[in-house]
Amino acid sequence: MKLEIWTEKYRPKMLKEVVNQSHIVSRLEAWVKKGSIPHMLFAGPAGVGKTTIALCLAYEFFGKDWRNNFQEMNASDERGINIVRGRIKDFARVKSMGADFKIIFLDESDALTPEAQQALRRTMERFSNTCRFILSCNYSSKIIEPIQSRTSVFRFKRMNEDNVEEYVKRIAKGEKLNVSKDATKAIYEISEGDLRQAANLLQASSALGKVTKEKIYEAAAQSRPEDIREMMDFALKGKFPDARKKLFDLLITQGLSGEDIIKGIHKEVFSLKIPDNKKINLIEQIGEFEFRMNQGGSPEIQLEALLAQFMKHGK
Ligand SMILES: Nc1ncnc2c1ncn2[C@@H]1O[C@H](COP(=O)(O)OP(=O)(O)O)[C@@H](O)[C@H]1O
Ligand SMILES: [Mg+2]
Repeated sequence: MKLEIWTEKYRPKMLKEVVNQSHIVSRLEAWVKKGSIPHMLFAGPAGVGKTTIALCLAYEFFGKDWRNNFQEMNASDERGINIVRGRIKDFARVKSMGADFKIIFLDESDALTPEAQQALRRTMERFSNTCRFILSCNYSSKIIEPIQSRTSVFRFKRMNEDNVEEYVKRIAKGEKLNVSKDATKAIYEISEGDLRQAANLLQASSALGKVTKEKIYEAAAQSRPEDIREMMDFALKGKFPDARKKLFDLLITQGLSGEDIIKGIHKEVFSLKIPDNKKINLIEQIGEFEFRMNQGGSPEIQLEALLAQFMKHGK
């Protein structure tokens, strides 16, 4: 069974493939050509290309070794600004190979308190010779003025119906899907222009032939917390393929994030019918895997590895 997540499969690799946001793309392309970029602040709603554009920029700027010079972090996942600063320091103090600086992409910067943002600002200044920062947030008003004034601020636009249609068509072509006009409209209405959600809805409803409006609404209505419990039960009973299938169903059909799922698992563990010492052991494991995921580990891999732990404890 080959499982691919469409949000990743159809994430643009190059700036010119990005839907909408041309006001941002054109400026970034000019900077790539010049070989120099400033610190930036990306502000806008979810699923409109903030992370995507940062990745495209790194790829176009650094070429094939981009991974060595680009680090993604999440301000809300990390336990406090001290960890962020520690990781920034570790990454920034090793000089970049083949480039003048590295890029740090800090997602959900508006989750930081104003004090933490002050600390971040000092860190940005300290490493400004070796690092460029791209901060991402939903609302730029939640970012302290000294950071706003030291960054080029980009406001990301919400996707309109034409933009969603363009993206749906791209996926439909790639997957050879037949998507009705009504279905596309329904995707737009439900996702409100969030392309991550649009791709997930499409993937969830595409399994059985033509994608219709009804199938899109059906896919959107599905969100059963019992599924997490079922997945855990499969794993405890040693039915790994079933557990894994359930996991992908949660990630794709229901569009849950890795973090949502691990939180759900944590909640359900207490009600499992297994001895307390095993529960304690599993709770420790959950903490460990949540930490790894927040450190940038792939949610699919980390959650599968966690399910494997459940399997061990079930037997
Ligand atoms: N402007 C865009 N053009 C093309 N695809 C996009 C765009 N914005 C989002 N996507 C799709 O949605 C997914 C999530 O986008 P992402 O850039 O991570 O959103 P966010 O703005 O929340 O950081 C991507 O993997 C991509 O498939
Ligand atoms: Mg993002």
